[in-house]
Amino acid sequence: MRDDNFTKENNAKHMWHPMGHPADSLANPPKVIVSAQNSSITDIDGHTVVDAVGGLWCVNLGYSNDAVKEAISKQLYDLPYYSAFSGTSNPPAIEASYLVREMFEADGMARVFFTSGGSDSVETCLRLARQYHRLRGEPTRTKFISLKKGYHGTHFGGASVNGNNRFRINYEPLMPGCFHLPSPYTYRNPFNETDPATLAQNIANAFEDEIAFQGANTIAAFIMEPIQGAGGVIVPDPSFMGLMRDICDRHGILMISDEVITGFGRTGDWSGARHWGVKPDMMSMAKGITSGYYPVGAALMSDKVAEVFEKDTSGDGGIFHGYTYSAHPVGAAAVVACLNETQRLDTKTNAAARGDHLYQGLLKLAEKHDIIGDVRGGHGLMNGLELVSDRATKTPIDMATLKHIHQRVYEAGAMVRPGYPNILMSPPLTITEDEVNQILRALDEGFSAI
Ligand SMILES: Cc1ncc(COP(=O)(O)O)c(C=O)c1O
Repeated sequence: MRDDNFTKENNAKHMWHPMGHPADSLANPPKVIVSAQNSSITDIDGHTVVDAVGGLWCVNLGYSNDAVKEAISKQLYDLPYYSAFSGTSNPPAIEASYLVREMFEADGMARVFFTSGGSDSVETCLRLARQYHRLRGEPTRTKFISLKKGYHGTHFGGASVNGNNRFRINYEPLMPGCFHLPSPYTYRNPFNETDPATLAQNIANAFEDEIAFQGANTIAAFIMEPIQGAGGVIVPDPSFMGLMRDICDRHGILMISDEVITGFGRTGDWSGARHWGVKPDMMSMAKGITSGYYPVGAALMSDKVAEVFEKDTSGDGGIFHGYTYSAHPVGAAAVVACLNETQRLDTKTNAAARGDHLYQGLLKLAEKHDIIGDVRGGHGLMNGLELVSDRATKTPIDMATLKHIHQRVYEAGAMVRPGYPNILMSPPLTITEDEVNQILRALDEGFSAI
């Protein structure tokens, strides 16, 4: 490893960073994070802060879980790689599939297809949804419906169902046959509706209307996040997901719950769908499945879906889809250790308690700082602050002020995530009371500095 001077000198010069402008990275080189302990990260200048981002909504166990680190390290020596394409398997992948299925059995999940991350998992769900309908003799069911403000990764399929134009416009034309409904976003919506239950019903009505317009027999699946994450932590009314489930059922449409953020305890339950009392047909997972220690994702299928594939005798049930790193033995060893640790530490319970603590603290900050237009959260460790320059008109804050606040919060002791015009938070599920207080203090200082 070269020295710190080399690292600083070459920062962003040879690497394009995801989700950023290359010119901006050159002009304002990114913070170089060199180490981490528990819920804190340390940069190359020795500044240590509480990581209220949890890496990227993923380091659920914090940074110091030795059981996961040791499992990865041991597996590298036993078998660093072998393919899981039809014909070969490996012990950690078999155990990981058992554990994932067991953890999400209560959500009705019966089968697991491993991937390398969240975008892969979404892609897998979308593709298998189309194949499911073909196998059942309804090959016209090819379209997808999703929610505005939703984030489903950056593959062409996922980007096509994404509901934020920043992730779409430069890459258009996207996949045809994808249609979007309004988000359950009470702060701004086309119905001007602030009551969450009424808004949920309005969106359900819009869903029915869209199905009538498209023709139910052309729609393969509806995909949603139980709580929209990257779109700003948009928490729907508790009735919302159930309303959408009923409509899917009535029209033969599969429901995909994108649990890449909400899976593995973040909402205070093991899955977001369970949090709302809904059983989806498929789930896309990643992030918390390994706590970010190794890139792994998974697409989960219910019995109803699995049966159609497994009972097929035509040969068309073959899954000609997959990734070189699907069921990677080292990734699978990380999954096994991570799920065992997740259960042992019962991270969902701490997520619920500390999530409430953080949410209540954010509501107090909103009483003090007018720049906070909306506070979102209250269901585990997912929080968003929508920033405005004028509360009455809800004018979004400018980017320069958001960047300035972000930097001041960092200097004051917390890493938060700017997702214009929001500040997003998703700390490790193992975070302590003191660390939550440190995040709140740092935010207070950051807002006071403008
Ligand atoms: C809900 C959701 N789906 C899919 C993805 C894409 O996952 P990845 O970045 O691992 O490809 C993300 C990433 O944040 C996500 O939040």
